[in-house]
Amino acid sequence: MTRFFVGITGASGHAYSDALVRALVRAGHEVDLCVTPAGAKVLRHELGIESGEGGRELARALPEWFGAQSARSLRAFAPDAIEAPPSSGTALTGAVIVCPCSMGTLARVRAGFSSNLVERAADVALKEGRKLVLVPRETPLSEIHLENLLALARMGAVVLPAMPGFYHRPRTLEDLVAHVVGKILDRLGVEHAGARWKGTEEPPAERGTDPRG
Ligand SMILES: Cc1cc2nc3c(=O)[nH]c(=O)nc-3n(C[C@H](O)[C@H](O)[C@H](O)COP(=O)(O)O)c2cc1C
Repeated sequence: MTRFFVGITGASGHAYSDALVRALVRAGHEVDLCVTPAGAKVLRHELGIESGEGGRELARALPEWFGAQSARSLRAFAPDAIEAPPSSGTALTGAVIVCPCSMGTLARVRAGFSSNLVERAADVALKEGRKLVLVPRETPLSEIHLENLLALARMGAVVLPAMPGFYHRPRTLEDLVAHVVGKILDRLGVEHAGARWKGTEEPPAERGTDPRG
């Protein structure tokens, strides 16, 4: 059992973080969560989840979101909770995943701003040599975005864009989401039942496989 930190920012793609957290909890892991104020707005807009002003009431939203049993594996922190465990390198967080990662958070992580708990947790992962997985979402990408992505990849971060493939022949939105989440879980070393490429000779699967089970 590992404790992961999932930072949810104001980029589009909250279906990815939703599926990711569910998959981590289902696999028996613990998850620390933090949503930025912009992330809380997009969370409300895309998934209809009300996490309160600035995401401060995410914990209250959790029982409906993840179910009472799973909620015991989850801890939610306000974005200004700089005293929270993920702020310190002494807290043994298995990996930090920023999903989805906005271009704003990307730039601030690259520059070491640490202006909220998500950015600080990412900063800690970099300084402690722990795994940092960034799931950026924006299109098109400007030169600033590309430079920031390259700089962070060179610093050791895993840059894993929210960019689903189509070779597993997705039929549903969940199939597309599952493809990206499966890639994230692979980088975290977490088992999942998602689609695996077996070559073009294989007959196409009846339907895409959802790593959330
Ligand atoms: C509905 C909606 C969708 C957005 N999608 C993106 C996006 O895909 N990528 C991005 O970088 N910013 C996106 N933004 C803008 C960010 O939310 C904004 O830059 C914000 O300041 C990011 O703050 P944060 O990094 O602290 O979460 C979106 C905003 C809204 C309201």
